[in-house]
Amino acid sequence: MKLPLSKYVWFDGKYVPTEKAQVPITTHAIHYGTSIFEGIRAYWNGKNLNVFRLDEHVKRFRRSGQFYNISLNFSDQEITDAVIGICKKNKMKKSCYIRPFYFVGDYGINLHVTEKAPTSVAIFTFPFGDLFNKNGITAGVVSWRKFSDMSTPPQAKMGGNYLNSIIATQEAKRNGFDEAILLDHNGNVSEAPGENIFIVREGQLITPSLASSALEGITRDAIIKIGKDLDLDVIERDITRSELTTSEEIFLTGTAAEITPIIKMDSKQIGNGRPGDITKKMMEEYSEIVMNKNDEYSHWLTEVY
Ligand SMILES: Cc1ncc(COP(=O)(O)O)c(C=O)c1O
Repeated sequence: MKLPLSKYVWFDGKYVPTEKAQVPITTHAIHYGTSIFEGIRAYWNGKNLNVFRLDEHVKRFRRSGQFYNISLNFSDQEITDAVIGICKKNKMKKSCYIRPFYFVGDYGINLHVTEKAPTSVAIFTFPFGDLFNKNGITAGVVSWRKFSDMSTPPQAKMGGNYLNSIIATQEAKRNGFDEAILLDHNGNVSEAPGENIFIVREGQLITPSLASSALEGITRDAIIKIGKDLDLDVIERDITRSELTTSEEIFLTGTAAEITPIIKMDSKQIGNGRPGDITKKMMEEYSEIVMNKNDEYSHWLTEVY
């Protein structure tokens, strides 16, 4: 799948034509997965382009590298300005996905990565609509387990970690499902390859805690806050595998997936086979918020123009 990339990318502090942003084949990250990335969305509401929760993304961007002492040689303000700047430079007036990343550059075959290892930072963007069918998708538990803090830090959003997501997705697709669900090292529900998971049981909104190796998703956090503001019971706890198929509702959250209902889990229909009431409410709230139609949450948005 070739992305409809915008004309310019931001590369180590400069705007360059996309085809000119190149790296040597000896780049460490290509060999060892020593790259850190964020996925950010910006929403065009006809008047302005609003970047969703930019501060939180920039903070996680830096924190991910800190697990491995990989240096991000630009300040948070510089990264923030660059995210806004790349949208402006490309005159982006459509809802889009923004991908900032940094990676260890030419560092030989050295596995002793320190803060002195050379790094580069780049940001690209492209127009982006729905990742999944918003009427609901199917999902299945896969045999691969989510890696845990016993092997590598799950909170580091790093290239290498996504091999686990890739092999899980391959298995789910082979089994005929739209998306994979991974269990944690104890056999409880962790998350999807690129999304957090929520279930609804007896009106309660439940999501696995970070101890189940789930990424501390920014959309997950938004749903927890919105749920509480709507006076729902929002609970972080272990979710057993068998609870999935007996849930009233299930949905995934993520920057790319936004709020995506799961209507069939391990081939069993969830609820009445259509997005449930709480899921629909969350989807409605979320789209109002990102379109800057809800003043209570306008502090989550950064205007580009
Ligand atoms: C493994 C994983 N879990 C969850 C998420 C959802 O996180 P967020 O809502 O911050 O996009 C992502 C996407 O970033 C992810 O890659």
